[in-house]
Amino acid sequence: MPPLAIHSHIAPALAAAARRVGYDEAGLARLLGLEGEPVPVSRLTAPSLTPRCTGGLGTWVRLFLLRSTGRTAPTAREAERALGGSLLAELVAAGLLERRAGRITSPVQLVVDDGGLLMSDPGGVRCASDHVMALGPSSLDVWALTPAEVAGRRFLELGTGSGGLALRWARRGARLTATDVNPRALALAGLNAALSGLTLELVEGDRFAPLVPGERYDGIFMNAPFVIGAPHRLLFRDPGEPGDDFVASLVRGVGQHLSASGSLRIALAWLDLVEAEGASRVASWLPDGHEGWLHVRRSHSVDRYVESWLAESGERGAYAARCRAWTGTLRSLGATRVHTGLLVVRPGGGGLTMVPSAEGIDASLGAVVDRWLDAKAQWTHHAHHDVRHARVSPVEGLRISQGWCAAAGAWDGPETVLETTRGLSRRLQVDARVMAVVSRLDGRRTVVEAAEGVLSPEDAMTQVAALVEAGLLDVSTREEAVG
Ligand SMILES: C[S@@+](CC[C@H](N)C(=O)[O-])C[C@H]1O[C@@H](n2cnc3c(N)ncnc32)[C@H](O)[C@@H]1O
Repeated sequence: MPPLAIHSHIAPALAAAARRVGYDEAGLARLLGLEGEPVPVSRLTAPSLTPRCTGGLGTWVRLFLLRSTGRTAPTAREAERALGGSLLAELVAAGLLERRAGRITSPVQLVVDDGGLLMSDPGGVRCASDHVMALGPSSLDVWALTPAEVAGRRFLELGTGSGGLALRWARRGARLTATDVNPRALALAGLNAALSGLTLELVEGDRFAPLVPGERYDGIFMNAPFVIGAPHRLLFRDPGEPGDDFVASLVRGVGQHLSASGSLRIALAWLDLVEAEGASRVASWLPDGHEGWLHVRRSHSVDRYVESWLAESGERGAYAARCRAWTGTLRSLGATRVHTGLLVVRPGGGGLTMVPSAEGIDASLGAVVDRWLDAKAQWTHHAHHDVRHARVSPVEGLRISQGWCAAAGAWDGPETVLETTRGLSRRLQVDARVMAVVSRLDGRRTVVEAAEGVLSPEDAMTQVAALVEAGLLDVSTREEAVG
């Protein structure tokens, strides 16, 4: 795409013009009649919503949200009235608006996110190689990994794109360094920071290469380019290295950039290979003295994976040839399956905790993962002394239920289920005796006391260890237990 030329006075003028017309969450919901519903960001909605888009705010919506074209695009006079003549000229000169046959259209989209304005390239199937994506499902997965403490922490976002995630953390008081290899992304991230009156330290370069040597961060985040083995390169989507080598090098190199309490939190894709399955490969990437937590969001065979991305990219021409080339690339690496998911890496000795797919995740996931790994570390600590004295309790939000289920035409129960409701929603079936022990674990009784009359101490230890590993039980630190 043509380079953007964004002068520093554009952001304050654009933010002021947005305030004048009421281009914010409440204003948009009122104009579009969508109170209580998410505001859409799609041309698909343009025909039904365009008739409502009158006045200054309506012009903004047609320009930046619906990105109307043809006869529904604002005229130059309408745009001048809604933006002011000089701002319109500046936006056109910067490459953020286009003037065609007396009408104004926008190559970019401007949405309201987290109370601020956020500009990116619009979603859609076909994009240029330097396309800057809008916040999407994978971005929100990384957002869900946010740790409990943000204010005052030093965060690094690699591959910041529009800067949307970095700005969410900055709004909550983190100090942010944000990098990207795409100059268009850095230009938009800079504009977005200025639109919100926030500061991001923006640096251009590949992974850790542009960082000041010796700098360490409390949180390093990346929504890594998430498609593996594609035959051509979109910067936001394709890592540009064979297979999962990109994320492997990221994980391997992170140790020297993390503070003592720091962690890496990323969305990634990884491969099962003929000679090694995915989780053990990811485990082998962990730097010495670091532990990890890996959650599978989706798993596909190579064929299904390639087909789903070809459909997503709208690349219909020469479909069979493209499919063959892409699957051929993956098979030549020995790939058998492709997984996408989330990974947390932090200093520690707990190895890799592997979490199969869940029904859903929520924004408390980052805090839940930290507590989960802390519980494992505490259990190991007790194991070195006397684990029988460990004080254990259900994790916050754990539901214990019992019911009957019908299988193969016969009653086959009762089914006892432990259900997590914070961070990840999962349902795990457990033995009724294990459930009885769990329901007695209150953080005050020891495991042996809770198991009395139900399980032998040895069996109770084995079962509780498995539930700690699965993130269903919390283990008090020695201080908490004493308190
Ligand atoms: C999946 S997008 C995520 C963008 C943004 N963080 C988000 O979640 O909306 C990946 C980003 O990483 C950037 N990127 C690609 N290769 C990179 C590299 N080697 N080093 C740093 N950033 C890179 C891309 O330009 C893109 O902005």
